[in-house]
Amino acid sequence: MGGARLAFRAPHPYHPRVHVTVLSRSAAIYTTHRLVEAARARGHRARVLDPVQVEMGLGGTRPALFYRRGRFPRTDIVIPRIALSINQYGLAVVNHLQLLGMPLLNGTQGISASRNKMRCLQLLAGNGIGVPLTVMANDASGLKDMVKHVGGLPVLVKLLSQSERTGLMICETLQSLEAALEAILGLGQNIVVQQYVKAARGRDLRAFVVGGRVVAALRRRPRVGRFARTLAHGAKFEACALPDEHARVAVETARVVGLEVCAIDMLDVKGGPLVFEVNSSPGIREAEEACGVDVAAAVIARAEQLALATRSARRASAGAAG
Ligand SMILES: Nc1ncnc2c1ncn2[C@@H]1O[C@H](COP(=O)(O)OP(=O)(O)O)[C@@H](O)[C@H]1O
Ligand SMILES: [Mg+2]
Repeated sequence: MGGARLAFRAPHPYHPRVHVTVLSRSAAIYTTHRLVEAARARGHRARVLDPVQVEMGLGGTRPALFYRRGRFPRTDIVIPRIALSINQYGLAVVNHLQLLGMPLLNGTQGISASRNKMRCLQLLAGNGIGVPLTVMANDASGLKDMVKHVGGLPVLVKLLSQSERTGLMICETLQSLEAALEAILGLGQNIVVQQYVKAARGRDLRAFVVGGRVVAALRRRPRVGRFARTLAHGAKFEACALPDEHARVAVETARVVGLEVCAIDMLDVKGGPLVFEVNSSPGIREAEEACGVDVAAAVIARAEQLALATRSARRASAGAAG
């Protein structure tokens, strides 16, 4: 017959339980769902709160915080997954939590820096990280010089702020570039013009960095005859062994932008990787499927670490005060 039966299940005796809150529009989103699953698998409490249902108050003795007009649930660590469609409100929520001293797996500064293409590239280039030749301008008059600066035609035109849809154009002639710039600038949008890096052989690399470590890396290959290398465009993803130099650059990029969890997109060129985009709420499905890596568990392990560090720092300061 069966041996001793435990009266209760103590699944994870070696790490204290923490309360993880994922800020996300829906618990049904793959990455959100996986984070909750991974937290629970490790014995933690996890819940999903919709950022647009968080209410924030200022001006009293202390910033106030509510969820659906009620008390904000107990939380030791927050993982923001702020959709671009609610970027502004979402960032205000993240900032409010930060103000209240809540540990976050990605704070306001890192998220907003990553979401402005030019500011992000400025930050990287200013810290010695390789980026594609890029220029930003507010009118199309200096067109020839712009093209010269980025190494000649063809060039890429990118919308400055990230949007849900891709805002990317390849211009092969000065005329098409001029038309594109005038049209976009005329709509009041800002743009950057970037060197089109062909040496990347139609592939780019994505490294997932969590807590200062690369946990997974992917190569993305566009569908034959297509340019964009995103899932929506039918790109193929395959696991890749990231060269040391690329891993170093990815980790350094995450540090400079100030992100605990991110995906760093790089063009694989001779002479070292060029970082062209930093994603602060990356989807993890492709990485988990192609690499067979439990990215969600890595994120939760880091969340746990930060939550417990904050908890013991608070206890120490309460002890010192008392
Ligand atoms: N400078 C570049 N040279 C060549 N290909 C690029 C360059 N920048 C981006 N790409 C390709 O275009 C895709 C979309 O560019 P990205 O800057 O990530 O815009 P989005 O905001 O649409 O994600 C990338 O995934 C990459 O494959
Ligand atoms: Mg991209």
